[in-house]
Amino acid sequence: EPGAERDGHMRVVRSPWSGLGMRSLQLFSMAVTLEVSVGKTPVVTALNNTKVQLSCIFTTCMGFEDLVFTWYYNSTEMIYRGKIKNKASEPKIVYSDPRVQLIGTTTGKENNISISMFVDFSDAGKYTCHVRNPKEKGAEHNATITLRVVPEMVPVDNTLTLIILAVVGGVVGLLILILVIKKIVLLVLKRSQGKKKECLVSSSGVDNTENGLAGSRADRKAPPKA
Ligand SMILES: *[C@@H]1O[C@H](CO)[C@@H](O)[C@H](O)[C@H]1NC(C)=O
Ligand SMILES: *[C@@H]1O[C@H](CO)[C@@H](O)[C@H](O)[C@H]1NC(C)=O
Repeated sequence: EPGAERDGHMRVVRSPWSGLGMRSLQLFSMAVTLEVSVGKTPVVTALNNTKVQLSCIFTTCMGFEDLVFTWYYNSTEMIYRGKIKNKASEPKIVYSDPRVQLIGTTTGKENNISISMFVDFSDAGKYTCHVRNPKEKGAEHNATITLRVVPEMVPVDNTLTLIILAVVGGVVGLLILILVIKKIVLLVLKRSQGKKKECLVSSSGVDNTENGLAGSRADRKAPPKA
């Protein structure tokens, strides 16, 4: 039976896109009757130890009767199986992994057979949603979601952001500090130079007698230079 099921998948999955040849017409008409879809995001990323939703819906033009849908983990391990009598009824559980919960409903607009479960790292892998409709000569279709489980990524990202901010902030702070120190040093130098000038001016201004001495000193110093 697994082999037959797989052949069924291959035929139906390939048919909508297998080209425009005459041979595909029959397969195409078969595919439009039963379609299984996991939406636009076949890859789901979940945090370790969080509840994840695995979405799946199916559509059928002919309607359905005693339809069986099954969720497989990594192609082989059945984690949920439900049976739906017809469009007016909700699914009945045939088998359920204790951690899996059916969250979809089939009496609404969509035939929603989504499940949810708490996941940890060991649950990463492929989740296949498979549907078999006896009303369509046992037509089958499936779609697969890839689940990635990651360690809590928000704190990691925050840490990285904080490190970058700290480095950038540190560099900017250092530059500002250097500029401030430079300003202060220049100011101090200017002031001390100004004071020196003032001192020279005041001393030269007050003490006229010193001028002579200074001059004589300069004169005395001059000979070795020349
Ligand atoms: C299927 O049901 C789930 C749970 O109520 C919901 O989150 C999801 O959007 C539904 N999907 C569609 C395609 O309606
Ligand atoms: C992931 O979940 C397991 C199971 O609860 C826990 O033991 C482990 O510490 C978690 N690891 C991280 C990185 O959060």
